[in-house]
Amino acid sequence: MTQVVLTEVHGKVGLIRINRPEAMNALNNNVVDGIGAAIDTFEADENIGCIVITGNEKAFAAGADIGFMKDFDYMHAYKTDFITRNWERVKTARKPVIAAVAGFALGGGCEMAMMCDMIFAADTAKFGQPEIRLGTMPGAGGTQRLPRAVGKAKAMDMCLTARMMDAAEAEKSGLVARVIPADHLLEETLKAATTIASFSLPVIMMIKESVNRAYESSLNEGLLFERRVFHSAFALEDQKEGMAAFVEKRKAVFKNR
Ligand code: CAA
Repeated sequence: MTQVVLTEVHGKVGLIRINRPEAMNALNNNVVDGIGAAIDTFEADENIGCIVITGNEKAFAAGADIGFMKDFDYMHAYKTDFITRNWERVKTARKPVIAAVAGFALGGGCEMAMMCDMIFAADTAKFGQPEIRLGTMPGAGGTQRLPRAVGKAKAMDMCLTARMMDAAEAEKSGLVARVIPADHLLEETLKAATTIASFSLPVIMMIKESVNRAYESSLNEGLLFERRVFHSAFALEDQKEGMAAFVEKRKAVFKNR
C-alpha cells in the first residue's frame, strides 16, 4: 500500500510530505493520522527544532477528501469528532511548523496550512475555501483563521464566492510569510527551518507560544504573558551562553536548556 505520508529528516528539521498525488493530496483519516504520528515523532526527538509540512508541485492539499465524507450524517460527524479528533495535532505542536505550499491549498488544505505557524508559498500556490460549491462550509478553521490572516473583507469574499487567491495576493494580504519560485520552495523552506532549528529549542518554543498568545488574548494579557516568559528565559543556560557569546564575539553553542 502507498504510504500517504512520508517523512524525512534534514539535519535538525523534520519534513512531512503529504503523498496522495492521484487525489491532489486530499486529506482523509490516513493522511491526517499520518501527519499526527509524524508530528508526535518529531516533537519527541530532541534533535529536531522545526517541522515542515509540504505536498507536491500540483497540490499542498485540495481539501478534505470529498469521497470519504460525502455520506457522513450528523451523528457520525459528531460522534467521531470529525476534524477535532485528529486534524488539530498540527495546532498543538510545540515546535514551529512551516507549511511549504505549491499548487492548490483548498478547503481543508488551506485550513491545514493555516494551522501551521507560517506558510511559505511557491509562486504557483493557490489558496481557497471553495466548500460553498459543495453545499457545505469550511470546517477546519477557515472561517476563523482566514479573517485573522487576511481581514474580514477578503475572508468573506473567498468563503462566499469560492474564488482562489494566488501567491502574490496571499503575500500582500498577510496569509503567507514568503513567496518563493516553485523550483526553490523546498530548498528555501528547509533553509529557513534550519536557521530556526539552530537556535535554542526552549527559546524557539517560548517565542512560538508567545506569538500565539497574540491571537488568544487582549493586548495587555498578551504583553503580560510575554513579559513573564521573557523573564523566565533568564533561567536558561542558553541565554547565558547566547549573551556571553555576543560579548566575546564568538558563535553561541546552544544546549537546549
Ligand atoms: N477530495 C477527493 N478527491 C479530490 C479532491 C478532494 N478534495 N480534490 C481533487 N480530488 C481528486 C479528483 O477527484 C481527481 O480524481 P480522479 O482522477 O480519480 O477523478 C484528482 O484528484 C485530480 O483532480 P482533478 O481532475 O479535479 O484536477 P484539476 O486539475 O482539474 O482540478 C482542483 C484541481 C481545482 C483542485 C479540483 O480537483 C477541485 O476543485 N477539487 C476540490 C476542491 C474542494 O472543493 N476542496 C474542499 C473540500 S471540502 C473541505 O475541505 C471541508 C473542510 O473544510 C474540512
